[in-house]
Amino acid sequence: MRFAERMAALPPYVFDAIGRELARRRAAGEDIIDLGISDPDIPPAPRLVERLTAEAHREASHRYPPYQGTYALREAVAAWYRRRFQVSVDPDRDVLITQGSKEALVHLALAVVNPGDVVLVPDPGYPAYAMAAWLSGATPVSVPLAAERGFLADLEAVPRDVARRVRLVYLNYPNNPTGRVAPPEAWQAWVDWCRAYDVLLVADLAYVDIVYAGRATSALGARGGRTVTVESLTWSKSYSMQGWRVGALVGQPDVLSAIRRVESNINAGVFLPIQAAATEALAGDPGEAVVSRYRDRRDFAVGRLRSLGFRVGAPEAAVYCWVEAPGGDGDRFAAAALDAGVAVTPGSAFGPLSRPYFRISLTHGLKELDRGLARLGRVAVPV
Ligand SMILES: Cc1ncc(COP(=O)(O)O)c(C=O)c1O
Repeated sequence: MRFAERMAALPPYVFDAIGRELARRRAAGEDIIDLGISDPDIPPAPRLVERLTAEAHREASHRYPPYQGTYALREAVAAWYRRRFQVSVDPDRDVLITQGSKEALVHLALAVVNPGDVVLVPDPGYPAYAMAAWLSGATPVSVPLAAERGFLADLEAVPRDVARRVRLVYLNYPNNPTGRVAPPEAWQAWVDWCRAYDVLLVADLAYVDIVYAGRATSALGARGGRTVTVESLTWSKSYSMQGWRVGALVGQPDVLSAIRRVESNINAGVFLPIQAAATEALAGDPGEAVVSRYRDRRDFAVGRLRSLGFRVGAPEAAVYCWVEAPGGDGDRFAAAALDAGVAVTPGSAFGPLSRPYFRISLTHGLKELDRGLARLGRVAVPV
């Protein structure tokens, strides 16, 4: 079979490749504790599952949903913005409901980027950003999130000739994998830079609700932010609804119309009972109970990692520990860890500059973390 030329530039999705290797080893009888994958284990609140099932019993629920999402859900998103950020959002113009955030973040690039454009992606960064650039024929260029700068992106360091070719920049705070929360002045500086170069700023707020220290803020709330920003929300992490596939894009209305044009040519919206449950979810906060469970895991994992001699900062947010790999090479350390029966994600999964790190995910109970970290402590450091 001959494949499209674009496939030559498209590597397998990194977590798919890692998952296959794990499945292969397990099928061969290896006992592996997987601390790499980020798949929330805390179940969604019973009220959300009840709403989903009640709605599924209604005949009208099985019709095609509206492309933009239900008004009730868009209005709930707008109310959430008012409550959370004191930002006013028009449910008709400024909100688009999506099938989770991953594919929306990719469709977005198809709508705004031309072959030859540059897309800035954070390194470390969620891998779908670079893939979105590749799929749209653009060139992803890494923006380092340096530990010395507290993992905040330095757009001013992008050379001018590159900056002039940038069409889109993805930023994600609270950040996966570093756990950093961006202060409002950081969003302001990024918005100012995007306005100066006429660049679309995509602010991925996937972990907006899982914050242990400080408070997540919004790029739409920055001065001038509304003219250049689209923000991405998901119910996957806040409400553990990751298998349900529901998210929202919020912000610049012309960009949202263009993305809607792409999306409505590709998919047919989000199942109505899921939208009803997502609306219900926003009516209450995700629950301090969820955050406090992740906080307990964070405290446990950071303490344990440090006692084992690993260098790791305490994340302010999100569900990860971003750890310096002993020996300085996360790929080799992750391979050695796998041989010792524990999977971690090598830093290079998040960009070439991140190879000296590895990531563990806190979406595992304390017992599993305990067993996995004990194995991690026994990994022979590759030389
Ligand atoms: C930063 C970030 N953005 C987006 C997503 C995608 O989430 P979903 O597609 O489930 O909404 C993830 C998932 O891990 C993520 O870490």
